[in-house]
Amino acid sequence: MGEFTPLYIVGAIIGAFTLLFVAAFITLKRRKAVVTFDRNVPDREIMARMLPYAKPYWKSFLAVLIMMLLAIAYDILSPLLVGDIEGIIKEDGFALRDLFIRVGVYAGILAVSLVSTYFQSIVLQKTGQKILSALRQDLFTHIESLSHNQLNQIPVGKLVTRVTNDTNAISMMFTNILVNMIRNVFVIVGVLAAMLLLNYELTLMVLCFIPFLVLFTVIFRTFTRRVFRTVKDRTTDINTYLSENLSGIKITQIFNREDAKMQEFTEKSRGLRIARRNMTLVFGIFRPMVYMLYISSVLCLLYLCGRGYIRETHFLGQTIQSQTLVSFYMYISRFFNPIQTLAEQFNQLQSAFASAEKIFTIFDMEPELVDEPDAIELDHIEGDIEFRDVWFAYVPGEWVLKGVSFHVKPRETVAFVGATGSGKTTILSLMCRNYDIQKGQILIDGIDIRHIKVSSLRRHFGQMLQDVFLFSGTIRSNIVLREESFTDEEIWQACRYVNADHFINKLDGGLDEVVRERGNNFSAGQRQLLSFARTILHRPEVMILDEATANIDTETEILIQDSLEKMKNIGTMLIVAHRLSTIQHSDNIILLSHGEIKEQGTHQELLHKKGRYYKLYMLQFHEQQKQLEKNA
Ligand SMILES: Nc1ncnc2c1ncn2[C@@H]1O[C@H](COP(=O)(O)OP(=O)(O)O)[C@@H](O)[C@H]1O
Ligand SMILES: [Mg+2]
Repeated sequence: MGEFTPLYIVGAIIGAFTLLFVAAFITLKRRKAVVTFDRNVPDREIMARMLPYAKPYWKSFLAVLIMMLLAIAYDILSPLLVGDIEGIIKEDGFALRDLFIRVGVYAGILAVSLVSTYFQSIVLQKTGQKILSALRQDLFTHIESLSHNQLNQIPVGKLVTRVTNDTNAISMMFTNILVNMIRNVFVIVGVLAAMLLLNYELTLMVLCFIPFLVLFTVIFRTFTRRVFRTVKDRTTDINTYLSENLSGIKITQIFNREDAKMQEFTEKSRGLRIARRNMTLVFGIFRPMVYMLYISSVLCLLYLCGRGYIRETHFLGQTIQSQTLVSFYMYISRFFNPIQTLAEQFNQLQSAFASAEKIFTIFDMEPELVDEPDAIELDHIEGDIEFRDVWFAYVPGEWVLKGVSFHVKPRETVAFVGATGSGKTTILSLMCRNYDIQKGQILIDGIDIRHIKVSSLRRHFGQMLQDVFLFSGTIRSNIVLREESFTDEEIWQACRYVNADHFINKLDGGLDEVVRERGNNFSAGQRQLLSFARTILHRPEVMILDEATANIDTETEILIQDSLEKMKNIGTMLIVAHRLSTIQHSDNIILLSHGEIKEQGTHQELLHKKGRYYKLYMLQFHEQQKQLEKNA
């Protein structure tokens, strides 16, 4: 028994660790703390949906495969070459010539392997970037096709993660994870074949360690899923928190909430730190475990062979040649390494699948507002708008508009008044079909808007809203907006028309003055003037002004009033304004309350009626009087 004691010791150590591991695993499983990836769709289905993105590049992948085989040749051949001791150490000393030949061959194989690895990674990088950009583009286009209603349901932060991180994970899966997994499988098979050829008894000895390796790997995977998941959740958590709070940072500063926010952030940051520490810990346990198995198998190899040489006994009836010993020694490391990485890559693959599933959930959101197959294109509209008993709810059951009917004739100016939340903005956004109505009909020039192509419909509307969105770029790019080319003269004309030319003229850059994110280097009034110019330039047949004059000082308002008068000549105009003075010259004034039309008519008609409009008007009139008295 004594001569095998070292082997028993090795066995005991491995056994003890295995028991420890299994015990830990069972405990965790009992506590139901074992987490699976958040997945509903089977791997095969996801793979089938992702493959089309890689398919156009099958030639590149084939080239990669060939280069990979060349690179693997080094892993398989070099141990044989190095192990061939008997070829160079002869009875009468070194066979120098043979040594040099072998060094030359070794260097040659190494060079081939390095060069092919180099080109392999270049091809993979290029292909990966192409797949990534195709996927990103598709996703972005798809997101753009979603309706306002659908977009309201997904936080912007999440969409950003989908388009950046998750697409990246898929591209990485093709170019990094899958390719390396294939490579590792090849290496394992190749090394195993070479070992079997050299000495199958020793190979069997090495294989004795494999069940342990498999066991460790299985357990490791359940642990890593858990930590991976936590790390991902915590990262999303921090990202969402950051994106929201960085947007609102000015409010934080104004309300002196920095300390509280800092504490919240520290808390989240700590969460991520702990999750990452746990991840390191799990890997820190798994890798040494595999290393222990590797070292144990090397120990067994050395022990068995060394014992044979010293005692001149035989291992399973044979003397192991020095060549076999050296080659085996090298092969063992080449065997364990890919198995260990394979386990880790399997996790990455699962995580990439999870990303893919998230992306496909977005792809699976069918755009709600699709054109009917026979939807028509409108080159020009007269600007006749009719609502026929329109019912609409953002949330099913909670009616925001209840049977709204009105008719706007071409080139008329119609104003909507009513308390906040009465449905004014909703009416205006239904016209351009930002949402579909549940009951009733909306007609443009007598055609139901559902029969008109959405893009064609929206082209005829110019919207000027209270919160103007400016993109980062220049004044010019923000006015032109679409790709159509306008001459500077046309742009200036539009600016003059809405009296935006005064302030643009004062800028150093003129039309080329830089606009920063959301236009934060301009005042609210200036932004509004720019949005007017933007609308005018595109000569819409219907213009919508939704509280667009709210941010403007009296002086500018006079300018705006002036341009509003001019704009009335361009086409139909729909206005929402709180100051009744802005709208009193409208052809029709519609008063809304809780989604219903209560009164409509001209300013004079409504005043005569002495109804709600009259009350509203008197209220504002008295306010004005008070203001004037105060100023005087
Ligand atoms: N995207 C939305 N989702 C759900 N409800 C909304 C949405 N937008 C507006 N609402 C609700 O619809 C009602 C009418 O809003 P809105 O048309 O914006 O009013 P107004 O412009 O007259 O102030 C409000 O009660 C508001 O809460
Ligand atoms: Mg509104």
